[in-house]
Amino acid sequence: MKHEAVGVRVLVTGGAGYIGSILVSMLLERGYQVKCLDRFFFGKETLASVADDPNLEMIKEDIRWFDPEILRGVDAIMDLAALSNDPSGELDPSKTMEINYKGRVRVATLAKKYGVEKYILASTCSVYGFQDEVVNENSPTNPLTTYAKANLKAEKEVLLLADNSFSVTVLRQATVYGLSPRMRFDLAINGMVLGFYKNGKIPIMRDGTQWRPFVHVKDTSKAFITVLESLSDVVNGEIYNVGSNDQNVQIMPLAKLIAESIDLPFNFDWYGSPDKRSYRVDFTKINKSLGFEPKFTPKDGAKEVYEALVKGTVTDNIKTRTVEWYKYLLEAHKIIREVEYKGEIF
Ligand SMILES: NC(=O)c1ccc[n+]([C@@H]2O[C@H](COP(=O)([O-])OP(=O)(O)OC[C@H]3O[C@@H](n4cnc5c(N)ncnc54)[C@H](O)[C@@H]3O)[C@@H](O)[C@H]2O)c1
Repeated sequence: MKHEAVGVRVLVTGGAGYIGSILVSMLLERGYQVKCLDRFFFGKETLASVADDPNLEMIKEDIRWFDPEILRGVDAIMDLAALSNDPSGELDPSKTMEINYKGRVRVATLAKKYGVEKYILASTCSVYGFQDEVVNENSPTNPLTTYAKANLKAEKEVLLLADNSFSVTVLRQATVYGLSPRMRFDLAINGMVLGFYKNGKIPIMRDGTQWRPFVHVKDTSKAFITVLESLSDVVNGEIYNVGSNDQNVQIMPLAKLIAESIDLPFNFDWYGSPDKRSYRVDFTKINKSLGFEPKFTPKDGAKEVYEALVKGTVTDNIKTRTVEWYKYLLEAHKIIREVEYKGEIF
């Protein structure tokens, strides 16, 4: 693959999503030619700011069924399409396996067949489950949900496809935060900021001592680009945790930090039953091998989300809560099927 962006064709599945819409913009900014393959469950408007870019092609397709000819001439794939969290994954576990596991293995298998050089899988630190020890890429995995299990199965199978002419890399991302055109308030930091904005209190899951790893949406996007621009000899067949050791944080101190970043007196509300489930992740490998270092902190993320809420450039609506939106689509589909007649309502 060429070592400069111009002329390099990158296909991003799920490119209109929370991470994808930031990643696609960053790729375009660097001069890549981008194909965004997405079902657009959250709309095409998430890519409105780059829609007129001649280097962007939007393809409304499903990773399970797209015509593989789409892959002809593609140099690299970043595979982000998925039902993207635990509760969405439990709506219909067999569909989750179809999309998040089989769908992604299909993308990687076809990519290899069509001569794509590099494939990068968007996975998650939740494959580790909750563990007492600090976990690294060699630690035993412990996927607890359908979402985490599907990710782990996909990881294992796509890595088997790696060879001298097909580079495969898995990125296990920490929980992401920060502003995106497809906003997600179902992610911990963003949800805390929204609670603070709406009620003056940060919602905290009991008892606040639990640890979680975090990464900013621009930084996790940068990790995909770092892998894209690294030599295949270095990244081929590798798994990297994406985040930084100093962004493993306990929920209560995190909430205090968020209040500080917004410059408001700290106040909070408990919710949920005592949650002692905790995990900490080691991010040394991506830093040492690829020189990856996040630029943003939870404070930066909280500040930008709060300011956007105040300005009204982002709003709290059902599309920002992934599982609620998918539930709504399923329910709406059922109703429309019942009442439509010859494809029309009236
Ligand atoms: N956001 C996080 O905190 C986080 C953390 C770890 C891993 N991840 C993973 O990163 C990826 C992106 O996450 P996100 O937060 O941007 O999620 P998202 O839900 O915002 O984006 C997913 C995108 O995939 C599309 N999509 C879903 N099913 C599809 C299908 N069958 N065919 C084509 N497109 C489909 C959706 O329309 C959406 O645009 C996901 O794989 C997610 O599991 C996210």
